Amino acid sequence: MIKFDRVTKRYADGTVAVDNLSLEVPTGEITVFVGPSGCGKTTSLRMINRMIDATEGQILLDGVDVTTIDPPTLRRGIGYVIQQAGLFPHRKIVDNVATVPYLLGWDKKKARDRAMELLERVGLDLKMADRYPFQLSGGQQQRVGVARALAADPPVLLMDEPFSAVDPIVRTSLQEELLRLQAELNKTIVFVTHDIDEAIKLGDRVAVLRVGGRLAQLADPPTLLARPADDFVREFLGRDRGIRRLSFVSDEGLRLRADLTVPASADVSTVRGTAESWLAVVDGENRPLGWASVKDLPETGTLADARLAPYGTFVRGRDSLRGALDAALLSPSGSAIAVDETGRAEGVATREALDEALGKVAGGVGA
Ligand SMILES: Nc1ncnc2c1ncn2[C@@H]1O[C@H](COP(=O)(O)OP(=O)(O)OP(=O)(O)O)[C@@H](O)[C@H]1O
Ligand SMILES: [Mg+2]
Repeated sequence: MIKFDRVTKRYADGTVAVDNLSLEVPTGEITVFVGPSGCGKTTSLRMINRMIDATEGQILLDGVDVTTIDPPTLRRGIGYVIQQAGLFPHRKIVDNVATVPYLLGWDKKKARDRAMELLERVGLDLKMADRYPFQLSGGQQQRVGVARALAADPPVLLMDEPFSAVDPIVRTSLQEELLRLQAELNKTIVFVTHDIDEAIKLGDRVAVLRVGGRLAQLADPPTLLARPADDFVREFLGRDRGIRRLSFVSDEGLRLRADLTVPASADVSTVRGTAESWLAVVDGENRPLGWASVKDLPETGTLADARLAPYGTFVRGRDSLRGALDAALLSPSGSAIAVDETGRAEGVATREALDEALGKVAGGVGA
């Protein structure tokens, strides 16, 4: 655990970058520091590995005041990733990744083997190992930056806007890669960003800072979205808080109706009398084919002969209520087809079922 205990940083010119900051960064979790430019994010991060020393207060790493540990020793246990990766331009990728192992005196083969293993882990083609940084895209360089920070397997990772210089698509894949890695590695990560969506996506907990280096709120993402502490946090979170919060609500409470899925092989006469307006038609393996409008069914034949409308699906137990709602909005029936991980239909979440589930979420906000 990393603990900030009443930490203040005043620069020589009198600028108070961080003001009386107290918070805890739990072991094995991602804590995101987010806030507008100049709110003291980088300063806070750099006080952890002593690139900057605090003016007042203490930072404790597993109970030990970091100012009592000499910086090289401290940094051996702390990986550091910055924007635009900060790779050494004249070193090959593999040697960039092996930087810390070399410093630690590992033999060359062991260090390179470790570097290759990490390149693979962060999703890079091993062909890149012998290239120089300028021969990689920005996104690839960023992955190398992450691999380098992980090289000596430090328990703590500090990441300062690591993905902010790449385009949105690459950024999304880097974020997903980080979450996948973290699920395996369980590092204690402090991640700095000015992008609230990134903070909400990555953070187990999010610390919102305001200019002057003061903590505005520390909470997990669903709590932050549901109950911002003040107007500053509310404005910083931006629009659609309610909808975005649905991403954190499991779809498990959503009632499904299995009777609304019918096989394409069924004769139209068997469904004509139904009180339903729409039926979800599935193939012989139970995979959705589309929605059939009951009043527009052909006179004879099977449901395979009906004109099918587009449909949206969500994966039961994996997608959130937001995914289910989105699927419903993509279907003319207004209902969402629930599928399992293999794409087979499990049933239909009707508008009534969605309404019921959304009502519970809304009820929970005030609680
Ligand atoms: N060496 C320095 N001397 C004086 N003031 C500084 C110094 N470094 C940073 N500052 C000031 O301290 C404040 C916090 O800076 P910091 O770099 O921590 O902000 P930040 O939240 O990381 O911003 P950004 O999102 O732009 O990276 C700013 O007002 C900045 O101008
Ligand atoms: Mg910064």
